[in-house]
Amino acid sequence: MSDDRSIELYIKKNLSEKRYMHSKRTAETTEKLCRLYGFNPEKGRNAGLLHDIGREISTDDVFSLVENDGYGVSRIEKEYPVLLHGRAGAVLAEKEIGITDEEILDAVRWHTTGKRGMSGITAVLYVADYIEPGRMHIDNEFRMKIREMNLDQLIMEVVRNSITYCRSKGYSVAEQTFMLYHDLEKKVS
Ligand SMILES: [Fe+2]
Ligand SMILES: [Fe+2]
Repeated sequence: MSDDRSIELYIKKNLSEKRYMHSKRTAETTEKLCRLYGFNPEKGRNAGLLHDIGREISTDDVFSLVENDGYGVSRIEKEYPVLLHGRAGAVLAEKEIGITDEEILDAVRWHTTGKRGMSGITAVLYVADYIEPGRMHIDNEFRMKIREMNLDQLIMEVVRNSITYCRSKGYSVAEQTFMLYHDLEKKVS
């Protein structure tokens, strides 16, 4: 069976209707942005379809899936296991669906927190998850600006908004997200 078909069947069976629809919209947005920025649109779509497969599993399963993925678990991730759902999803995608493409796995792995130096599909998925058309917090003015922004500027907008949101809710921000923010501050004027 092709990867596309296996992924579609897997998410249809394992995700709630709401998250399935979000995954489909994220896949479409990732595919579009990949075309805009010159990355592989099929891989982008598959990464978008897969990105939240670790989001609806138990916390115990999340911890056991990331146990041996090589990235360790920080104090903040212990406190907020939801931050690990990208990494858990990447392990699941490989184990359960047989996805071996490292670009797709990397995008799924880091879509929640972002990662320093991220590029290609990983960067595009991080943005697409935040701006897909079902996200009501994104206003039209911002959507209009997207086409004029380069990818780093777009990531910066998403990181800045995510940090502001976490702070407003009293949540801790993952270290990876802060490091990404500080890197981009130097890069994006
Ligand atoms: Fe997610
Ligand atoms: Fe998502």
